[in-house]
Amino acid sequence: MSRIVTVIGTRPEIIKMAPVVKALDALGDDHVLVHSGQHYDLMMDRIFFREMELREPDHQFELKGQRPHLQVATTMRQVAPVVKAADLVITHGDTNTTVAGALLANKLGRPLAHVEAGIRSFDKTMAEEVNRIIADQLANLLFAPTETSRENLRRENVTDGVHVVGNSVIDALIENLAIAEKRSDILSRLELDAGGYVLLTFHRAENVDSKERLARALVAFEAAAHEAGLPILFPIHPRTAKRLREFGLEKRAAGLPPLRRIEPTGYLDMLMLEKNAALVMTDSGGLQEESCFFRVPCVTLRENTERPETLEIGSNVLAGTDPERVRDAVRRQLDAKRDWPNPYGDGTTGKQIAQRVAAHLG
Ligand code: UD1
Ligand code: UDP
Repeated sequence: MSRIVTVIGTRPEIIKMAPVVKALDALGDDHVLVHSGQHYDLMMDRIFFREMELREPDHQFELKGQRPHLQVATTMRQVAPVVKAADLVITHGDTNTTVAGALLANKLGRPLAHVEAGIRSFDKTMAEEVNRIIADQLANLLFAPTETSRENLRRENVTDGVHVVGNSVIDALIENLAIAEKRSDILSRLELDAGGYVLLTFHRAENVDSKERLARALVAFEAAAHEAGLPILFPIHPRTAKRLREFGLEKRAAGLPPLRRIEPTGYLDMLMLEKNAALVMTDSGGLQEESCFFRVPCVTLRENTERPETLEIGSNVLAGTDPERVRDAVRRQLDAKRDWPNPYGDGTTGKQIAQRVAAHLG
């Protein structure tokens, strides 16, 4: 029996790895699930285990309050005893937890698999881009979502062990959509009509860690609301909430009547909010993919994206945070013809990954 160690730690890793973890559990190997503790609030963490019926981690660590370099260093130190005996270490995506798991596997001489391999923004000022490149350079098995991501890997001379398997964001979505339709009452709770609001999420370090950029984004949100003639529902990531407080921008945000701020939502509520939105505005990777699946147009509040497939098919446009550019993008996307295909697979990514892992372990 082989020992597989999967390391997760943040909201998107929990959501996108839930279907993969379940498929790996079914292999009958010794599958150890490790949570770094990078995300820890109920609504950033436990809620997703509960809603997605994901088993509890075998090892739960703490990282609360740690700065980025210490998130990596502490995770490496804490997780080392678990990884020591692994036949395969699996990490997902591009977070500090991802890079810690990847470096740890490498330093301990254990084979590494990277899920969501090969996506690139080509912007190394982003911590995430650096984390992805490191994980991909160190991985023996690389699960790329699309041919574009395979091509990115090829350009970095990574060709062995690459498998295009789609993105498990679709597995999670398909598994949970019917449940969400049945259980979520978020629209009635918030007195929202289908198609009657814009959904906004905004948390990237490069957007919210600068006072000027965050202040300008608030102006852009207001411009977007006016252009759409709709209120904006804004579930706020704790990083953004913290920055609004620190920068003294809370009052300004509260003084924007179209901007309706709420706590981060659970996954089932988020699926319903995305599906029924007139438009999604976001800097989240997951929301760019999910809105594409729902055929809800997206405006990405960034200068680049590692999801170019969404730009090519027109489900998404880049707008940065300049108010005029955002206004134009909102106008354009509200008129989008919602007939694009889903480029991220058929919801079998978790199963495909488990099959490849089983073959790799022999
Ligand atoms: C991290 C990822 C980012 C991903 C995001 C998903 C890195 C480098 N970045 O960013 O790629 O898009 O997760 O949401 O790993 N906080 C809480 N409670 C929590 C979690 C965070 O209060 O449960 C606050 C803390 O003040 C913390 C701050 O948010 O310092 C930032 O959290 P951190 O995990 O460092 O980065 P994210 O912005 O969440
Ligand atoms: N999400 C959620 N509630 C929220 C915001 C996001 O359930 O209030 C989900 C969303 O549906 C997606 C994932 O969290 O599956 C995206 O995570 P996030 O935006 O934090 O990270 P990113 O995708 O940018 O790495």
